[in-house]
Amino acid sequence: MATFVKILIGSILAAYLAMKWTAPSFHPESLKGARVLVTGASSGIGEQMAYHYARFGAQIVITARREKVLQQVAEKCLSLGAQKALYIPADMANDSDPDRVVDFALEKLGGLDYLVLNHIGPTTFGMWEGDVEHTRWLMKVNFLSYIQMAWRALPSLEQSKGSLVVVSSLLGKMPNPFTLPYSSTKFALNGFFGSLYHELAMKKSNVSISICTLGLIDTDSAMDKVRGVTNIPAYPATEAALNIIITGATRQLDLYYPWFTQVVTLIKDWFPSIINYFIQNSYNYIP
Ligand SMILES: NC(=O)c1ccc[n+]([C@@H]2O[C@H](COP(=O)([O-])OP(=O)(O)OC[C@H]3O[C@@H](n4cnc5c(N)ncnc54)[C@H](OP(=O)(O)O)[C@@H]3O)[C@@H](O)[C@H]2O)c1
Repeated sequence: MATFVKILIGSILAAYLAMKWTAPSFHPESLKGARVLVTGASSGIGEQMAYHYARFGAQIVITARREKVLQQVAEKCLSLGAQKALYIPADMANDSDPDRVVDFALEKLGGLDYLVLNHIGPTTFGMWEGDVEHTRWLMKVNFLSYIQMAWRALPSLEQSKGSLVVVSSLLGKMPNPFTLPYSSTKFALNGFFGSLYHELAMKKSNVSISICTLGLIDTDSAMDKVRGVTNIPAYPATEAALNIIITGATRQLDLYYPWFTQVVTLIKDWFPSIINYFIQNSYNYIP
C-alpha cells in the first residue's frame, strides 16, 4: 500500500511538472493596447486584475454596481499605465445589464480582445435552510449573466482572435458544506463553459476559453466569511489575478490556483471517503 501511494504521488507530481514545463510562455507586451472588459472589478480579484492589466498598458472597461468605487479603480488604472480606463455601473441581476455592459465596451474600445467574467453576488455562508429564492437570484448573477455576456461578446472575440476568461472555484468541482447556492452556480459555469469549449473547438473558432479554478483567496469578502470557521490557507488576490491574466493571454483552457487545487480535484474521485473526511473536518462546526 505504502509503495502504491508513493508511486501515485510521484506520478501526480511528474504529470504536474511536465504540464508546467510545456505550458506556453507569457509575453507581457501582448497585452499592450489589448481591449479588456473585467466584471466585478470594484473589489477583490477583479480589482487586482484591473491593476495588472493597467500595468501591462491595456485598454480597460470595468464594471460592478458601486459607481464611486469603480471611478476610483479606473483612476488608479490610469495612473498605473492603462491606455484607457472606463467604467460602467451595472447590476448583473437585471435582465438587460449584461448586454448593456458588453455593448458599452464594444463601442468605447472598438471591439474586445478579452472578456473576463469574474463578478459574484453576495451570498450566505452556512447550512442550507431552503432559500430557493436567493439561489434563483444568485444563479442569475453568477451564471446566467456570464452566458449572456459571453454570447454578446463572441462575434467581436471571433474577429479579434480573442479570449473568454471565466473565474470559477474549487467549489465548482468539489461539493462542500455551507456554500450550496454559490457552489451550484460555479458547477453550472464549469458545465456550460467546458461544453462551449468543445463546440468552439469543433467549429474551429478563433476564440479561446480559460476556466480558472481557484482555492481560498484572501479577498475581504471571502475572509469575512471563513474567519474562525476554517484553517484552510488563503492565497493572495494579486497573485491569483496575475495567474488568471496569464492563463487568458496564453490561451490555456485551465488554471488551478493554488497548484494543489488540481491535485485535490484529481484524487477526489479515486479516494472520495478520504477527501470527504478532510472536507467535513476542515470546518469548525458543532451541531
Ligand atoms: N475569494 C475567494 O476565496 C475565491 C475562491 C474561489 C473563487 N473565487 C472567485 O473569484 C471571483 C472574485 O471573487 P472575490 O473574492 O474577488 O469577490 P468580491 O471581492 O466579493 O468581488 C465581487 C465583485 O462582484 C461585484 N458584484 C457583486 N454583486 C454584483 C451584481 N449584482 N452585479 C454586478 N456586480 C456585482 C462586486 O462589486 P459591487 O458590490 O460594487 O457590485 C465586486 O466587484 C469570483 O468569481 C469568485 O467566485 C474567489
